[in-house]
Amino acid sequence: MLEPKVKVKRVLFFDSGVGGLSVYRAVKELNNEIEAYYLFDNECFPYGNKTESFLIERIEKLIEAACKRYELSAIVVACNTASTVALPELRCHIKLPIVGVVPAIKPAAKLSKNKVIGILATPGTISRKYTQDLIDSFASDCKVIKVGNANLAVIAENRLTTGKVDKKAITKILEPFINAPIVPDTVVLGCTHYPFVKDVIQEVMPETRLVDSGEAIGRRVKTVIKESTTIETREKLDRAFYTGDLENFDDRLQMVRKFGFKKLEKFEL
Ligand code: DGL
Repeated sequence: MLEPKVKVKRVLFFDSGVGGLSVYRAVKELNNEIEAYYLFDNECFPYGNKTESFLIERIEKLIEAACKRYELSAIVVACNTASTVALPELRCHIKLPIVGVVPAIKPAAKLSKNKVIGILATPGTISRKYTQDLIDSFASDCKVIKVGNANLAVIAENRLTTGKVDKKAITKILEPFINAPIVPDTVVLGCTHYPFVKDVIQEVMPETRLVDSGEAIGRRVKTVIKESTTIETREKLDRAFYTGDLENFDDRLQMVRKFGFKKLEKFEL
C-alpha cells in the first residue's frame, strides 16, 4: 500500500551558526505551516571577518548543493553578512525564490525621534557598499553611528550553546553608542545572532529601541511561499544540518530540538 503523503512548503534557512534560528523563529510565528531545513556553516563560523570573495564562493557552493540534494520551495539567507555580499550571485544561479536579510536601517530611521541611529553588525556587513547604500537611501536625515564587531556573534553563539553570556564584553562593544555626544535612540541589530543577546544589550542601553528584521522577513516569506512549489513528503519534519565537526553535538542537538528540529545531521559537501 502506498504511504500517505503530506504537502508542504519546504524552506531552507541558511546561516553561519545559530543566528538563522532567530529568523526561523520569527518566520515560523507567521508561517507555522512551513517545513524548515536549517543549514548552518559551523565549519567557517564566524563569517563576519571573512573576505567577500571567500564568502560568495562558499555560500553559493553550500546553497547550490542543498538545492541539488533536497526539493525546496524557497530559501531564506538568514544572515546579514551573507545576504549583503552574496544575494546577487545566488539569484543569478538559483531559480528558487530567495529571501535575504539586510540591516533594518529603513524602519530604524523612521522610528528614530532624535535622528541618531546606531548600526550594530559584523565588520563585513558594516563595511559593505550594500549597507552604505541603505544608509544613503533611507537614513540620510540621520546621524548614523556604525559599530562593526566580529566577537558579538561569537558571544551570542556561546550563549545559545552553553547558556553563558559575557555582559562585560557586550558593554565594551556598545561603548561607541553609549559615549556618543547624542546617544542613538534606535539601534539596528544588523546580525541575526544578536536577538539572542538582545536582553543584555537592552539592559546596557535601556532607553534605546532595538530593531531587527525578523518580523519583516516573516511577512516576506508569507508572500513568497504562496507562489512557490509545493512538495509532497511522507511526514512534515524540521531538520537541521551542520557542515564541520561539531564538538558539542549533544548540546547542539538539545538546542535545535528546543526550536522544534527533530534531527541534526552532517551536511557533506
Ligand atoms: N548571523 C550572521 C549575520 O547575520 C553572521 C555572524 C558571523 O558569522 O559572523 O551577520
